[in-house]
Amino acid sequence: MSELKIAIQKSGRLSENSLRLLEECGIKFSNGTSVLKTRAANFPVEILFLRDDDIPQYVEQQVADIGILGENMVLEKNKEVAILEQLGFAQCRLSLAIRKEENYRGPEYFNNKRVATSYPRLLSGFFKKNNIKAEIEEISGSVEIAPGIGLADAVCDIVSSGSTLMTNGLREVTTILRSEAVIIGNKKLSEEKKEILDRLLFRIRAVKGARENKYILLNAPESSIQEICRILPGMKSPTILPLAEKGWCSLHSVVKEDEFWERIAQLKSAGAEGILVIPIEKMIK
Ligand code: PRP
Ligand code: ZN
Repeated sequence: MSELKIAIQKSGRLSENSLRLLEECGIKFSNGTSVLKTRAANFPVEILFLRDDDIPQYVEQQVADIGILGENMVLEKNKEVAILEQLGFAQCRLSLAIRKEENYRGPEYFNNKRVATSYPRLLSGFFKKNNIKAEIEEISGSVEIAPGIGLADAVCDIVSSGSTLMTNGLREVTTILRSEAVIIGNKKLSEEKKEILDRLLFRIRAVKGARENKYILLNAPESSIQEICRILPGMKSPTILPLAEKGWCSLHSVVKEDEFWERIAQLKSAGAEGILVIPIEKMIK
């Protein structure tokens, strides 16, 4: 029987969230993550723990069938793979950063500068587009220390919280690309593997849906129901139950979490009371 080989990052920004996603899909692993690969006990998948930089190539060559990694890396490596799904975690940007005391007036700053990066392809594309002649110093890790040791004048690197730049006396000046985790897949999967992949994607979408949405319960006077439904447009055909108190009802529905936070004051002034917002474990549309 065939199984789907999934490559995830061995250790780094994405590894924990990648594993958690698979676990929330109900996939159980017997071994720890210190091994090179592990089989799931209850789903036909095998997990390979690899360097994220290598995942695009391995998926192209079908050493792994699919991979979870940052879109930034997928675009940099430019391999023959398909992006199957955005995953909504590990948001970051690829940015240019300079020494914090330097003046910056625009990308022309980088003319005749040396820039250290692990993203030479994306960076040279940016320089070409902006007509900038700079020297790209390709290094594979710890890019942020390059200006401090005299290897480069600036860096082009992944920024998430910004703390790596800050602790190295650097300042982000231009964003080249925004990115988050994605699933990539080999383009020539067998029918059997495609079928496993479809089952997995179905589960992943259910987990994603649950993460983005909340179950909401609130009490309101019957006369406010229409207005409340207008305030939360995502709320499709809510369940409305009468309360013991005459003229009042309880309203249950699903809302996008951000929508709820934006509208809470309006809800209250429309007469909503006792609002409960509850996490959803899985959501199947
Ligand atoms: C990136 C980048 C920094 C760090 C920035 O590494 O190279 O080291 O994240 O994050 P911060 O803004 O929150 O401090 P990443 O794990 O993406 O790449 P790697 O695989 O090259 O270590
Ligand atoms: Zn890496």
